[in-house]
Amino acid sequence: MYEKAVEDLTESQAQAELERLAKLIARHDKLYYQQDMPEVSDAEYDRLRRRNAAIEKRFPHLVREDSPAHRIGAAPASGFAKVVHARPMLSLDNAFSDEDVVDFVARVRRFLGLGDEEAVELTAEPKIDGLSASLRYENGVLLQGLTRGDGRVGENITENLRTIDDIPKQLKGSGWPDVLEIRGEVYMRKKDFFALNERQMAAGKPPFANPRNAAAGSVRQLDSRITARRPLRFFAYGWGECSDSLGQTQWEVLTRFSQWGFVINELTECCAGPEEALAQYRKIAALRGELDYDIDGVVYKVNRLDWQDRLGTVARAPRWAIAHKFPAERAQTLLKGVDFQVGRTGAVTPVARLEPVTVGGVVVSNATLHNADEIARLGIRIGDRVVIQRAGDVIPQVVEVAEAAKQGRDIIFPKTCPSCGSHLEREDGEVVWRCSGGLICPAQRVERLRHFVSRNAFDIDGLGNKQIEFFFNKKLIESPADIFTLEERDRHSLTRLKNFEGWGEQSVANLWNAINSRRRIDMDRFLYALGIRHVGQQTARLLCLNYLNLDTLLSQMEKARDRSSEAYQELLNIDGIGPKVADAIVEFFAEPHNREVIDRLLEQVEVEDFEAPATEGSAIAGKTIVFTGKLEKMSRQEAKASAESRGAKVSGSVSSKTNLVVAGPGAGSKLKAAEALGIRILTEDEWLELIGA
Ligand code: IVH
Repeated sequence: MYEKAVEDLTESQAQAELERLAKLIARHDKLYYQQDMPEVSDAEYDRLRRRNAAIEKRFPHLVREDSPAHRIGAAPASGFAKVVHARPMLSLDNAFSDEDVVDFVARVRRFLGLGDEEAVELTAEPKIDGLSASLRYENGVLLQGLTRGDGRVGENITENLRTIDDIPKQLKGSGWPDVLEIRGEVYMRKKDFFALNERQMAAGKPPFANPRNAAAGSVRQLDSRITARRPLRFFAYGWGECSDSLGQTQWEVLTRFSQWGFVINELTECCAGPEEALAQYRKIAALRGELDYDIDGVVYKVNRLDWQDRLGTVARAPRWAIAHKFPAERAQTLLKGVDFQVGRTGAVTPVARLEPVTVGGVVVSNATLHNADEIARLGIRIGDRVVIQRAGDVIPQVVEVAEAAKQGRDIIFPKTCPSCGSHLEREDGEVVWRCSGGLICPAQRVERLRHFVSRNAFDIDGLGNKQIEFFFNKKLIESPADIFTLEERDRHSLTRLKNFEGWGEQSVANLWNAINSRRRIDMDRFLYALGIRHVGQQTARLLCLNYLNLDTLLSQMEKARDRSSEAYQELLNIDGIGPKVADAIVEFFAEPHNREVIDRLLEQVEVEDFEAPATEGSAIAGKTIVFTGKLEKMSRQEAKASAESRGAKVSGSVSSKTNLVVAGPGAGSKLKAAEALGIRILTEDEWLELIGA
């Protein structure tokens, strides 16, 4: 078929072409991922995707709801389709004390450069212990409902959310924007939870551990008729994409939500400052036991929306909100023994085996003892009664001895690795003992594989801890690339997986689907999955933002092995990457075995180039900027954040790679260097104009 060049398409042709490509690519995805019967070559398929991306880039306002760019692979044959959130769903930083809250407000003031006379109003509301959901309304009609997922990609659970009475299918009143995403918490009332558990047990099914799990389990039912029978509720507290301004303050927006038919938590207050907010915290904490739903803290949000905008986000949490958590719940139980677990980096962690006990609604039978120093500090012995605590989703920990045993046994820390027998070592100044076995240590290898498929990494459904161990023990998966060749090898194997106990035709098919749908992977997930020491999700994203694609990253890391190279300097210049992290990264890529793991993987998976967030129409996307001298209209931190949120990199020093220098009064050597290199120099006002702030 004849295809017109992207740059020659008119708007209406582009629209028609995007529709054609969406359908075509969806069909090929289905053939490839679900039916194993591709009709086109990989090259042709890639060409279609590239063409779609190029048209979307030229006509961003025509991007379709069902754009192939929003999907990687087809929806799994069973389960929910994954959908990219129009705006990421953020999480919250935590405060554990009044002081943390006061610090939070001080940080806000500093960032915004507020004078002493200016008050920072805060809303305070309970933090509901449920699961968040995002509801998309177009022209007042509920069109889509998603889970939070990893914050960037959620699951489409529209049909299930439609069954919840608190969620209007059509907005009430008037004045809503054409496009409006409402965010809030799905939860279950305690009394409904108890009644549900009675029904579960009467039907011979296992009860849910707590209302949160019951709500999560209900909302993820594949059959929405089951969800409809579960008594779920919804509080609205925030929003995502929105085609018009919703108002001037958080409070005003919540008022409008309520007029449109949503339930706003009745304990929400608008407070004049941190003292009033803390008073509201104490009031909510005192009411906690009487409430008919679980809460685990109080959320404070800066009331003014223009300030929220300026404050923006760091990593995946807003600078304008914080969760003030209730103190962790504690319980006493018996320490029956201690096991030693070897982690992905070889760290050996003592794990307490406990007489099972319920803490904050969850049965706990293991808790971490952290390390050898901690055991000594606690003076703990096997047979003691101990106090354990559990805070939110943090791993339960042993905090003290409640009652020492008359004849307790000492806990003996091993001298060698419990998995491979290699000796343990510890670096100067570190408390953690590590197995020196590296690649020969089965425990480390299994842990690395587990990390590789985990939720924030490759996120392969159906490859949980148990399955990884199963495949590892059978020597079927020993290195990440093996995951992607498993299906092919299974096809030629005498002992087919479907014949193994615990597996069957369908579960095997599901596994192949889940694996195949991950053959295209975001660059940040890929880097995180490699398990480079000190490289968490945030650092992985920083690397993406700076190198944009894997090829560049790999070749720069090769050069950076020479610590006097420009490439190494560039890595160090990334704000947020210090020498320790930089060295860990360079050393990881310099290790031949790691390169082999990567090379083998790249034969199986395609790593997508990184797309900097929301840089559409940004004049500074991809540019490297240096701020120097005193800025008068915004704090240095705000300036940096404003550049990064528009897709620019901020560097601490001027080099030939610098594209722009923003210089305020008092700028010295950096300004001189920029002049000498002929780099464009802007005043603060010119900068503000450039970014349209
Ligand atoms: S605001 C940008 N408000 O807490 C702010 N979150 O730790 C994003 N949550 O994923 C959330 N009650 O599931 C907000 N009143 C509340 C909340 C609340 C519960 C949950 C939500 C979020 C998590 C973040």
